[in-house]
Amino acid sequence: MTRTFRMNEVQPRLLDETGQGIIGAPLVRPEGHLKVSGQATYAAEAKVENLAHGVLVRATITKGRVLKVDEAGVRDMPGVLAVHMTDERMIRNPAQGMMGESPVRDGKYIEYLGQPIGVVVAETFEQARDAAQRLKIEYSEEEAEVDPDNASETEWTDKEDYGDIDMAMDKAAHSVDEEYITAAHVAGAMEPHAAIAVWEGDKVTLHGSCQLVQFNVKELADALNIEEENVRILSPYIGGGFGSKLGISNEAVAAAIAAKDLGRPVRVVMSRQQVFDAVLRRTETTQRIRLAAEADGTLLGIEHRDRVSNLPNEGFSEPTNQATHFLYGGANRRYRQETARIHRNPSGSVRAPGEAVGMVALETAMDELAEASGVDPVELRLRNIPETHPETGLPYSARMLAECLKDGASSFGWDQRQAPRARREGDWFTGMGVASAARMNMLLPSEARVILTPTGAIVETDMTDIGTGTYAILGQIAGEMLGLPRELVEVRLGDSSFPKAAGSGGSFGAASSGSSVFLACKAIRDQIADKMGCGGDDLTLSNGLARCGNVEKKLEDLIDSDIVEVAQIKPGDTRKEAFSSGFGAHFAEVAVHAWTGEVRVKRMAGTFAAGRILNERTARSQCWGGMIWGIGTALTEAAEHDPRRGHIITRDFANYHMPAHLDVPQLDVKFLEERDDYANPIQAKGIGELGISGAGAAVTNAIYNACGVRIRKFPAHPDVVL
Ligand code: MOS
Repeated sequence: MTRTFRMNEVQPRLLDETGQGIIGAPLVRPEGHLKVSGQATYAAEAKVENLAHGVLVRATITKGRVLKVDEAGVRDMPGVLAVHMTDERMIRNPAQGMMGESPVRDGKYIEYLGQPIGVVVAETFEQARDAAQRLKIEYSEEEAEVDPDNASETEWTDKEDYGDIDMAMDKAAHSVDEEYITAAHVAGAMEPHAAIAVWEGDKVTLHGSCQLVQFNVKELADALNIEEENVRILSPYIGGGFGSKLGISNEAVAAAIAAKDLGRPVRVVMSRQQVFDAVLRRTETTQRIRLAAEADGTLLGIEHRDRVSNLPNEGFSEPTNQATHFLYGGANRRYRQETARIHRNPSGSVRAPGEAVGMVALETAMDELAEASGVDPVELRLRNIPETHPETGLPYSARMLAECLKDGASSFGWDQRQAPRARREGDWFTGMGVASAARMNMLLPSEARVILTPTGAIVETDMTDIGTGTYAILGQIAGEMLGLPRELVEVRLGDSSFPKAAGSGGSFGAASSGSSVFLACKAIRDQIADKMGCGGDDLTLSNGLARCGNVEKKLEDLIDSDIVEVAQIKPGDTRKEAFSSGFGAHFAEVAVHAWTGEVRVKRMAGTFAAGRILNERTARSQCWGGMIWGIGTALTEAAEHDPRRGHIITRDFANYHMPAHLDVPQLDVKFLEERDDYANPIQAKGIGELGISGAGAAVTNAIYNACGVRIRKFPAHPDVVL
């Protein structure tokens, strides 16, 4: 039986009393050696007999209809087994997990160039690819709009007002009114989208690369028009997701349809170019920020307008202004978002949707306000930290933004910062920049089973590990709670037959799934305490020993059969009592070449407070990843779209440049000790996306301090800097 707990029924802090030193410790990932030695089986590597290979067929027009497919023309090619075209089940756009509705589409209708419209199956991958490329398709083509700035169809996707920003701008002693442009991004997970589908009768097992298993089961069942009970998804190892695997995608549906028809398992793996073409992108944005401030830099108000884009009818719009709502004070606030309906590949969640690009604009504007008001940028931010949420009036649950800014400034040597263009060494201008970090925090329903055996423990949940360290932290939580070394806790993930977890997304995974494991372990502790004849609070579990007062027993003597507990966390009403977010501060030092505009990041440091840190090593790695993406946002990463046909032209990692080793200096990451009692029972907050939020602006603000060039178009390629 599942025990369900609501957040407000849980008494927190137990993890501070168990005293095992396991939780928080920088332990290595238990599955790490499997991954680096090639023993971890990713979706495409599942050992399946008699595999056939499918390759997606993609539209070569931007908008229109499929009139005719010459299937006969490729059916006789060597090895070709099947051609499935314009099946509307497959033509669904990559779903958004639970992040937004994506309607089922008419199977013959094309909405963007590169859209998957079918799959060719053959004995070998090469044969399938050859046939997919030779397949002749006739279309009727329609005029397509692909430019977000000149779209005839736009929609207001956000309109909110507090006070009167126009009045605030009129009476402001200092103000900023600027436009910022950020480029489209791709998730760029190391493992491309891949799936193997295996049918037994009416039941399908999908080896997939999925972030949100329980939602992906629903989506796949929905696409195939079968019952959820007949779908099993296995996703034990995932080579990165960053949002691109939140929803079930074309390769999975295509593999399932083809395998059913053929009566044989089918594998479909996207090429890197296909991932660029057909997987959700982060939208490009055009943002206008107006800041109104008093003489001392105190904000009177903020306006954040933005224009993003997506296909017609897609439910997702990048929540660009998400952090603007709660980061700084000012009674007068206005938000406007317009979504341009255009025929580029669909946009969706990409790491820290909202903050990742919204904060780049906001934090640049704050730097401009610092300049305008003559207030130091760190001091300006400190001055504008509101007492309560500026729009709802709610208190903040735990917020160490000021401490992060101060601690970061002092360890970075911020007091050495000079006026713009004041530091020049040879041909290089050098400067420093700062930006706040913030990423709102969520708790989602999540369930786990914990089994205590006489010799150890097993954790089972359909939670995923997308490279973030879930195996490590769930083992640590169980180890800490049950007094077992982490090695004696086996963590089993990514199987839809296990209890349903929140999944990996929105930085809610660790805290949500961790809370369910914590609660199941707590229930086990209560059972043990009963056997020992004491209350749960008086029980100590350590190294396989249970102790109550003077009584001490070996766990293996105490339990004759396995103790099994299933627990579910559900958000209670605590969100109505306090507003929870992770916070931090980024500092960067850059050198800008006086003649070429080349920018080198020399140092970068992030100080973060995100509640309890569950594993210092995996948390640090998350922040490194985010900060590196911040460098990419600032300097290199741009998914450029063809102005005529809308498709991405920078469709490999040579043209879409993610920061590589030489682009990334030593990154210092520091965590401040914090507990968030309102967030969840384990008092941890999301960290996966906190590291990217704001990071890019620290780099470009440093460019301004170095050479006096204000970056308002991202990334700051040399032509933008010069
Ligand atoms: Mo995240 S962009 O919700 O994987």
